[in-house]
Amino acid sequence: MLTKVLTLIIGIVFLAGGTMVAQNKFIGAEKCKMCHNKPEKGDQFKKWSSDKHSKANAATGVAGKAECEKCHAPVAEFKAEGVTCEACHGAGSNYKSPTIMKDQKQAIAKGLIVPTEATCKNCHDASKAPKDHKAITFDYAAASAKVSHKAAK
Ligand code: HEC
Ligand code: HEC
Ligand code: HEC
Ligand code: HEC
Repeated sequence: MLTKVLTLIIGIVFLAGGTMVAQNKFIGAEKCKMCHNKPEKGDQFKKWSSDKHSKANAATGVAGKAECEKCHAPVAEFKAEGVTCEACHGAGSNYKSPTIMKDQKQAIAKGLIVPTEATCKNCHDASKAPKDHKAITFDYAAASAKVSHKAAK
């Protein structure tokens, strides 16, 4: 009985937590572009636009299939953007203000994800892809270099 009550309470806490996360809404790459389009700061929008992530939704056979879109177009509101900014960085509505964005701690508290290898492996993992899918091999260092959009230091 006690276990059941505890499970229920934990369940409710999780539900409440889930609701808070849901309030952080996806805003789409065009919004990020307004601030992240400066060559001297890394030109993130342009670089992403020319890497395969921005076109992942157009890969053969993906369109309209939930089991494919979970990796190729994971943000339901912005499927056309493929693996969009927020697929890696988290939904942006709560962190997008410049005062918050300039302070990494605050931004993270508002839902910003600073992606790591584990973020990539949500998708770059053969065991999560369909059986008939081409083998996914993933070398983090090499793959990161291909899609990097860090500002020159
Ligand atoms: C109104 C302007 C603005 C918008 C909109 C905006 N950002 Fe930012 N962002 C900034 C500023 C300012 C910084 C601080 C660094 C800098 O000056 O480039 C920053 C920093 C970042 C960082 C680095 C954070 C760190 O400290 O590691 C990431 C990642 C980021 N933004 C992602 C995004 C994404 C994804 C979106 C869209 C969902 C977005 N930003 C929208 C202004 C903005
Ligand atoms: C677990 C995540 C995941 C799932 C699920 C997934 N894919 Fe992929 N897919 C990837 C990754 C990652 C790549 C890139 C692999 C690489 O080049 O290293 C890829 C590559 C592809 C490519 C090659 C694209 C190109 O430009 O060469 C096609 C086509 C493709 N996937 C179709 C599909 C279809 C169709 C489905 C659903 C039946 C699907 N994928 C499901 C992660 C996934
Ligand atoms: C495939 C995942 C992925 C996607 C998609 C992605 N990013 Fe990033 N982004 C990263 C990683 C990884 C880093 C480096 C994190 C670190 O500091 O180690 C990064 C860093 C950044 C930074 C900080 C740059 C710096 O100089 O430190 C900004 C700003 C940023 N991304 C904005 C964007 C915007 C805007 C988009 C969409 C136009 C986008 N990102 C799409 C993975 C991604
Ligand atoms: C939401 C799922 C997802 C995440 C997260 C993700 N990727 Fe991808 N990535 C894909 C898919 C799907 C493709 C294939 C796109 C296509 O070709 O249509 C891909 C393609 C790539 C490619 C191009 C491969 C080639 O053949 O040129 C590189 C490089 C890459 N990803 C690196 C990364 C790195 C590094 C991270 C983490 C910082 C990351 N990805 C995170 C889904 C993801």
